[in-house]
Amino acid sequence: MDPLRTLVERLDAQDPATAAHGRAVAQWCARITDELRLPRDERVWITRSAHLHDVGKLCVPEELLRAPRALGPAERAAVALHVIEGEKLLAEYDLLVYRDAVRHHHERFDGRGYPDGLRGTAIPLAARIVSVADAFDAMTGQRPYRFPMTPDRALLEIERSRGTQFDPDVVDVMLSVVGDALRRPVAV
Ligand SMILES: [Fe+2]
Repeated sequence: MDPLRTLVERLDAQDPATAAHGRAVAQWCARITDELRLPRDERVWITRSAHLHDVGKLCVPEELLRAPRALGPAERAAVALHVIEGEKLLAEYDLLVYRDAVRHHHERFDGRGYPDGLRGTAIPLAARIVSVADAFDAMTGQRPYRFPMTPDRALLEIERSRGTQFDPDVVDVMLSVVGDALRRPVAV
């Protein structure tokens, strides 16, 4: 069977919340890459990468992922390992072609992210795009310890991190893509 399908089915079965988040992030990435007018094969690749970006959470203890509180430093470090575990899973399934977004979606544009502290356009484009879509879906989604933000509020937060956490060009595209999605009643 196709290894991508196999891994996606495993994620659906073992961690439906992460699977749903992956799908939502993939849908935003499809819109962002569309707006960026990337070639079709690159759009498909980035969208599939986005779907898998948090697959390493399969290796993070459930009680940390669903903790109904803010995590302490050691716990946060354990969760942060999901980017490394994700890359290992990709290797296991012969899917390293999706490595950029899986390993690097928590890098920051100012170089203060993880795991490699890459900076600016040294961060692969797929990861810079997934990072913005991931933050938006995380902020607007339900979490055990807080209420979801409205899309407008989440966009404000993203705009505040334009150029520090996020690639400024990707933020600009996200603002326009979400603006369009909110104005037009389409499935996202
Ligand atoms: Fe993540």
